[in-house]
Amino acid sequence: MAGLKTLTMIKPGAVKNRHIGAILNMIEEAGFRISAIKSLKLSKEDAENFYEEHKERPFFPELVDFMSSGPIVAAILLKENAVEDFRKLIGSTDPAEAEEGTIRKLFAESKAHNAIHGSDSDASAERECHFFFSSKELLERHP
Ligand code: PPS
Repeated sequence: MAGLKTLTMIKPGAVKNRHIGAILNMIEEAGFRISAIKSLKLSKEDAENFYEEHKERPFFPELVDFMSSGPIVAAILLKENAVEDFRKLIGSTDPAEAEEGTIRKLFAESKAHNAIHGSDSDASAERECHFFFSSKELLERHP
């Protein structure tokens, strides 16, 4: 059965450009519940750990520098089929390929500065939620 939760980060570029409100609004309008949320700045080491699976990729240093360049917003989102539905809402990694109306089409500046992250599997969602949130914060709340 598909999982109920996914982890998102609104990336430094979108935070700097004051798109937090518009992006969170799109997320709620699409039927996701925001069950935990925080704003923080990742250290380089945090970003290296979060993106560990990409450490051999040529863009890794650039990705780490960007993700630790300013504050982000991290949130746990709840919905049936959360991972897949959220990836549809955000669109392709490269905004040039993202569908009209997706978050990346609207707010990404480039493939490297692509406004928002979404977990790519239920296993990644589990790991990424624990990366940012304590067990108390991880309790799933259904208002
Ligand atoms: S790829 O090339 O399609 O396989 O890339 P992908 O696996 O979708 O991307 C993984 C994360 O790396 C980021 N990325 C980049 N960062 C900096 N520079 C370049 N050129 C670049 N290409 C990809 C991309 O934004 C993904 O991060 P998340 O947080 O998952 O969006």
